[in-house]
Amino acid sequence: MDIFKKLAAAFAVLVMVLAAAGCKEKAPKKTEIGDDALVLASPDGKLELRFGLTADGTPAYSLSREGKDVILPSKLGFELRGKRLDKTYEQKSGKVYDHPVDFHSGFSMVDAQRDSLDETWEPVWGEESQIRNHYNELAVTLEKGKDNGTDAVMVIRFRLFDDGLGFRYEFPTQDKLRYFTIKEELTQFAMPGDITAWWIPGDYDTQEYNYTKSRLSEIRTILPNNAEWNASQQLFSSTGVQTSLQLKTDDSLYINIHEAAVVDYPATSLNLDDKSFIFTTWLTPDAQGWKGHIQTPGKTPWRTVMVVDDARKALASRLILNLNEPCALDDVSWIHPVKYMGVWWEMITGKSHWSYTDDFPTVELGVSDYSKATPHGRHGANNDNVRRYIDFAAANGFDALLVEGWNEGWEDWFGCQKDYVFDFVTPYPDFNLKALNEYAHSKGIKLIMHHESSASTVNYERHLEEAYSLMNKYGYDAVKSGYVGDIIPYGEHHYSQALVNHYLYCVKKAAEHRIMVNAHEAVRPTGLCRTYPNLIGNEAAMGTEFRSQVLPHHVTILPFTRLQGGPMDYTPGIFEMDLSKLNPSDHSRVQSTICKQLALYVTMYSPLQMAADLPQHYKAQPDAFQFIKDVAIDWQKSEYLLAEPGDYIVIARQAKATGKRPAADADWFVGGVTDELERDLTFKLDFLDEGSTYEATIYADTEKADGITGGKVLDAKETYSVTKMEVNSGSELTMHCARSGGFAIRIQKK
Ligand code: NOJ
Ligand code: CA
Repeated sequence: MDIFKKLAAAFAVLVMVLAAAGCKEKAPKKTEIGDDALVLASPDGKLELRFGLTADGTPAYSLSREGKDVILPSKLGFELRGKRLDKTYEQKSGKVYDHPVDFHSGFSMVDAQRDSLDETWEPVWGEESQIRNHYNELAVTLEKGKDNGTDAVMVIRFRLFDDGLGFRYEFPTQDKLRYFTIKEELTQFAMPGDITAWWIPGDYDTQEYNYTKSRLSEIRTILPNNAEWNASQQLFSSTGVQTSLQLKTDDSLYINIHEAAVVDYPATSLNLDDKSFIFTTWLTPDAQGWKGHIQTPGKTPWRTVMVVDDARKALASRLILNLNEPCALDDVSWIHPVKYMGVWWEMITGKSHWSYTDDFPTVELGVSDYSKATPHGRHGANNDNVRRYIDFAAANGFDALLVEGWNEGWEDWFGCQKDYVFDFVTPYPDFNLKALNEYAHSKGIKLIMHHESSASTVNYERHLEEAYSLMNKYGYDAVKSGYVGDIIPYGEHHYSQALVNHYLYCVKKAAEHRIMVNAHEAVRPTGLCRTYPNLIGNEAAMGTEFRSQVLPHHVTILPFTRLQGGPMDYTPGIFEMDLSKLNPSDHSRVQSTICKQLALYVTMYSPLQMAADLPQHYKAQPDAFQFIKDVAIDWQKSEYLLAEPGDYIVIARQAKATGKRPAADADWFVGGVTDELERDLTFKLDFLDEGSTYEATIYADTEKADGITGGKVLDAKETYSVTKMEVNSGSELTMHCARSGGFAIRIQKK
């Protein structure tokens, strides 16, 4: 080997050694809360919050339950946008010179106030008619002295309930901090190890994902493969996950991280450092990359950590609702639960279409002349079809019928990135707005309006007043809105601050028009339905519209995660699982049994419940359809009988009188769902009145039923049985569930 080769080899070794040294992970420095930490206990004394400042003046907290770590010491604070006020520089360079401002260290504590509350409030609709709001509070005022960069004050308010913690940052009005921009929120949630999580990928634009159960350390390898395609999608990190995030420790503590009352602030995801298992808030940026604009007095949403020792208690928790403000509407008499059908599933499955014609290569509303266009013959929202649905929905006791694809513009909405898409007021030539509403009203039901904004929020706001006025004119009292595609204004995201403000603006405007709102693709709910109960539904998760893509365990996780913030328009009730029956080119199946579909009316709480399938599929299974007709949609009480995220859920609920459903009807309804495993689920009926006798009507999977393959038999009737039996408070039932199956029971007092 000549000298040069030797030197080159030695150099290569040196580079490898240096690289190895450089790669060596530094153990993350532990956050230490000073000995003088303030301690706050939950009302039952089981949860303990500690708050203090670290040696460099960084606010930090920890949470434990009966001595077990829930959140290890974790830092709090922000990095703000600092704008140099050097105009000469800005003018010369044409750029604004930004520099980060530390708003997380160098604080001193100047005040600490304690408070507590124990009240009971009544929701307009809900899983129960009375909700207890019971917490102890600690509010600390922190000051950053002049020597520490900014001369500003921040309050951190903690509320500790028996089932979890809420805390938020507050920024009082002050001379030195009147308006500011957040570069990063740095709130940490340090996990007590490599625990189990049920997560979906963190994304600025969609939550329409299947959940994955894994250890925290596995997220990085699984995430890229588990991010299904969506019309609008922006992942931000290979360890980024969304709230609400369900977690479980090895000693069976169920932890849930979420947020409550997201108002005038971006929604947050969580980014995981998978060496230290610390999650940090990851706010949705605006089009320029900034993560929040605050005018003082201002506040962030509540950051929440639910912790319970039994999965059933997680479903019973009202933490998120309790952290929201009371009802802001004076008159709520016009708000009511809604059981509805829709001219919808036929479009979703491709049997019919939202659009009217194939004539226009592009559409320009007001210019493209639909009256002269040739219909393509597959338009779902035509007068005859809508009347057929009205007849069926009215005859079977429904409150309403959704009709999508009624208005001009659908030829040109998907993926077009158009600003001016729809006007929300001009019907297609074959949809008689006036006559169809009159026909529906004559039969005792209402039509539900549909506003697909195509994610052009500017266009929607432009037309909102006129669109809601049109609804008032024709007697619509509910709207389903939607935000498919990338957001316009260009560069904004579905969960950024401007969009959060847009969704709430629509809900408030709708309330002025006495209109109830069900928004799809909007930000995940964070309990705002307590304050604005006309927000009766949201999507914000993968729903039935994803058909065969929805995994069997999905509905055993959603009640722990997505539903914590408010009801979901999940659109259950599919009876024909074989989608080729609707669309010959689709050979997939919905992965569910009919009884699992029935159970969802109980397990997936919502005051807005759809029977999503077509009238002819219900006519073919009148026995099973009876449960959908009978089931209540508003409740006085809920009992969580069995639950384990990702595996199974069994819930019993007692009906509350509403609209078409009279007070006498205090029946109990029980629903149970399982994941991909067949199970026998055993539970007691000890919630029934002692000494009374009841008749139970039981809808059960048969031995032949199979929710994954759609069954070994062709006739759906062979996949379920309907039986009656006498039960009382001493009864114990064992229900067999097929793979991805379930059961439903109606219990009536004799
Ligand atoms: C997506 C919604 O989730 C779905 O329900 C609706 O039919 C389509 N967008 C069209 O607006
Ligand atoms: Ca959707």
